[in-house]
Amino acid sequence: EKIVLSYSGGLDTSIILKWLQETYGCEVVMFTADLGQGEELEPARAKAEMAGVKDIRIVDLREEFVSDFVFPMLRANALYEGQYLLGSSIARPLIAKHLVGIAREVGADAVAHGATGKGNDQIRFELAVNALDPSIKVIAPWRQWNIRSRMQLLEYAEKHHIPVPSDKRGEAPFSIDANLLHTSTEGKSLENPAEVAPDHVYQRTVDPLDAPDAPEIITIGFERGDPVSVNGKSMTPAALLTEFNELGGRHSVGRLDLVENRFIGMKSRGIYETPGGTILLAAHRGIESITLDRAAAHLKDEIMPRYAELIYNGFWFAPEREMLQALIDHSQAFVSGEVTLRLYKGSASVISRASPCSLYSADLVTFEESAIAFDHHDAEGFIRLNGLRLRSWAARNGR
Ligand code: ARG
Ligand code: SIN
Repeated sequence: EKIVLSYSGGLDTSIILKWLQETYGCEVVMFTADLGQGEELEPARAKAEMAGVKDIRIVDLREEFVSDFVFPMLRANALYEGQYLLGSSIARPLIAKHLVGIAREVGADAVAHGATGKGNDQIRFELAVNALDPSIKVIAPWRQWNIRSRMQLLEYAEKHHIPVPSDKRGEAPFSIDANLLHTSTEGKSLENPAEVAPDHVYQRTVDPLDAPDAPEIITIGFERGDPVSVNGKSMTPAALLTEFNELGGRHSVGRLDLVENRFIGMKSRGIYETPGGTILLAAHRGIESITLDRAAAHLKDEIMPRYAELIYNGFWFAPEREMLQALIDHSQAFVSGEVTLRLYKGSASVISRASPCSLYSADLVTFEESAIAFDHHDAEGFIRLNGLRLRSWAARNGR
């Protein structure tokens, strides 16, 4: 018997490692994904070695994360409840995929994760495992042990000589999840939605008041719906997102203070920082605005909330998500060209767009005289027929 544990090196999963070893008495294989969380991962290796783990896997998944998960989601302009760019939601299926892959490779019959019974993450991990390999069991210590609070967790750590991390201020840290797409922060004082978030929760964006007084102009190249270059320079997906995080962070782009509805049923308040993703969403909408047909664009916008909810709720590897993805991907065939944005004190505004596949016709729309034949009289009949039922309706209402 073996268990593959999704290990972050943080307090929760360090305790889980100990607890799994004690409870199951079997070998625990450690898996840590490098998703660009911007954290040293070698300390995680050292901690696992200290705990007696022999099979330690720290895997760089940054390119796979961005090209196979983040970019496909961005093609949809996905936002949950109108605002959340799904930075944690989209990482879970990727982690689950690798947990399953390693479990098969080493002959483990179970995988384990550190998500609590109150959250979304447990659902996302486990639905993904179900969809990828129904023979693999999932162990969720937070739902099984009798530790009931963070206080008790700290006591357990003390008893087992597991070092308890603290933030720079010497306090217990917030619940933080970070990767190349975002940093999310929950818990502690944020649990009161009436309380203003303290400045120090923000980790990768400057305060807009401290952002540069000079705006920064950037140009993003798109091919078939995906970003491929910045200021004329081609880069890999992960390198691009890293660059946009840098640019956005400096100009305070992508901060969000949100109360959201968890799938499990309760509301929760979190602080999100998604600098690069916020720039890319604005830019993608910019390039779509000239390259997508109106009905195609509107259909995308209709299915978007449904698609975002599927990702939020953990159904990435479900048939209906794949069906919607096929529709979205099909729509992107001509979404190529360049978008220029201005980054300035918290905003990322599109200021120009151009495409060899543009549907925009200045000749057609111009207020001036134009060579393109457009018979203004046609509009009269167009309006008369569209108004037909409104005239009937108004007459019946006695207006
Ligand atoms: N509320 C967000 C979501 O459901 C973020 C979850 C963050 N996860 C964490 N382990 N801190 O997507
Ligand atoms: C957790 O409960 O482990 C984190 C929050 C969430 O998954 O929603």
